[in-house]
Amino acid sequence: MSQIPVIAIDGPGGSGKGTLARKVAENLNWHLLDSGALYRIVGCTCVRRGVDPNDEAAAAELAEKLTIRFEGERAFVDDDDITDEIRSEDGGTLASIVAAHPQVRKAVLNLQHGFRRAPGLVADGRDMGTVVFADAGLKIFLDASAEERAERRYKQLKNKGLSVSLPGLLEQITERDARDRGRAIAPLKPAEDAVVIDSTQMTIDEVVTQVMSLVSDHGFGRAAERAE
Ligand code: DC
Repeated sequence: MSQIPVIAIDGPGGSGKGTLARKVAENLNWHLLDSGALYRIVGCTCVRRGVDPNDEAAAAELAEKLTIRFEGERAFVDDDDITDEIRSEDGGTLASIVAAHPQVRKAVLNLQHGFRRAPGLVADGRDMGTVVFADAGLKIFLDASAEERAERRYKQLKNKGLSVSLPGLLEQITERDARDRGRAIAPLKPAEDAVVIDSTQMTIDEVVTQVMSLVSDHGFGRAAERAE
């Protein structure tokens, strides 16, 4: 088992887990894994290459051969910047479709383990605490009501100048939740030893403060020093 510490942050889309993970990683100066981005990349690349995302064997073969690179918040496949594509609502839906295939999850598992590097890793996704980093020293499950998550996404997209429908977003979110929670492999659910935080009535700063206090209760900065 690796000595390099991991903080696992799981939860549904729009719960704020991505922002939380980034802030915790910045505060600790640790590496960051946005595992959803990997599934988004697989889903979008299927469409780019004319592969049916519902075809498990073909999607898995593509996932095994992908050359992925991150530069800050930008994502590249080969040398193509596909950041905007993967961040779209369709990118999320495609990710959720390919993520339900066991063979795709197997291909993505190795990629994810490669992110565990000293001094430590903050990993966000759906199964970080239950499957990928089941030995993580701290597990957070960040939840929020579907209505609140749709509202947050609506504001984000509006601020970007995009025209979107709130009922449409809520429908997409509810559908994606059902697929992610209901699938046979690595479904979205809190690990037994996860701390569950409901962020429906909280600001992101309040969530970060609560999690940083858990991080310090677990003695994390010190554990990272030992692993180096
Ligand atoms: O976190 P996100 O919205 O970027 O994730 C996009 C989709 O990818 C999500 O609906 C389900 C899938 N996913 C997954 O199955 N397992 C993960 N660890 C991360 C994401």
